[in-house]
Amino acid sequence: MPLRTMTFCGVFVGCMLMLWQSLVIAETVAQKGAYLTAAGGCFGCHTNTVKDSQPFAGGRALKTPFGVFYSPNITPDTKNGIGGWSDAQFLKALKNGVSPSGHPYFPVFPYTSYTKITDEDALAIKAYLFTLPKAATIDKPHEVSAPFSWRWLQWGWRLLFFDEGPYVAASGASEKIARGGYLVQALTHCGECHTPRNVFGAVNNDLYLAGTADGGEGELVPNITPDMETGIGDWSEADLVSFMKSGMMPDFDNVQGSMAEVIDHSLSKLTDGDLAAIAGYLKSIKPIRNVVTKPKS
Ligand code: HEC
Ligand code: HEC
Repeated sequence: MPLRTMTFCGVFVGCMLMLWQSLVIAETVAQKGAYLTAAGGCFGCHTNTVKDSQPFAGGRALKTPFGVFYSPNITPDTKNGIGGWSDAQFLKALKNGVSPSGHPYFPVFPYTSYTKITDEDALAIKAYLFTLPKAATIDKPHEVSAPFSWRWLQWGWRLLFFDEGPYVAASGASEKIARGGYLVQALTHCGECHTPRNVFGAVNNDLYLAGTADGGEGELVPNITPDMETGIGDWSEADLVSFMKSGMMPDFDNVQGSMAEVIDHSLSKLTDGDLAAIAGYLKSIKPIRNVVTKPKS
């Protein structure tokens, strides 16, 4: 074979190998992203509850004390989804709560927790979302009345209540507890429901995970700090893990409401190692005595 042909063949095979390698890497990043997207609970909020709705195409109603918000389409459709977004724009939305056109998001989108997701994990989530079928669904406007509907007011809210990431593990935390804390605070955002909120809708971290009678959709959300009487101090780590897998409580009751969805779409998809890390972290935080009961009507 002439030298030129051999060189050509060598370069060609080299290029094909590199292409193949980058495809394999892209695939594993997207696979990792699928797992992290499940952990983040994105599906539940971004998929309409109407039968056969296209996943991640938005339109799900989210009832809050301020009105009803509708989740947007986050499929890779360039016109009505996020298909045209750069990595930087995605990171800014997810971790900083600001849109590509520069407007602040309402905190019903829990960017206040996602700010603690690492860039690497956030971009894996984007890589996964970009493998999904596109949906042409147009975003539905929120049904929220003034002044809560005024987006610009969010700039003030952010100054008062938004602490930008990253996640920092408690000093001396083991690798397992540090991982559990990352999953709870950044991705699975338990505190968005289990921590009570003030009148401005910001979480009150003095009562971190101590429960509220005034949750989203008017739900009662229990205290999940390890307080013996009012929290989950008497649940073992194994109780917690099996609860997060199946929704079955230690007293054999089945979980209800939005927690059942969190388990179906998110927690039940996590590895045993990650569930044990979450359970270990929950058992390690400060127990807070806080009785959560429904106000008598
Ligand atoms: C509790 C419900 C909820 C969860 C969970 C949630 N989102 Fe959202 N998301 C929303 C809402 C509501 C908005 C719109 C906020 C607004 O209009 O200010 C939104 C906005 C967005 C946007 C901006 C879209 C646009 O067109 O501007 C992106 C991107 C996004 N979410 C991605 C995600 C990802 C990724 C996850 C999971 C890691 C996730 N969301 C989890 C409710 C949620
Ligand atoms: C979307 C809101 C929401 C999120 C996010 C959420 N929870 Fe819950 N959780 C609830 C509600 C509501 C209940 C009460 C369910 C019921 O009444 O059956 C609950 C119940 C529980 C219980 C049962 C406690 C008891 O004493 O009965 C545990 C444990 C729990 N959640 C743990 C978690 C953990 C851990 C996370 C994060 C990994 C989490 N939850 C995220 C809303 C949420």
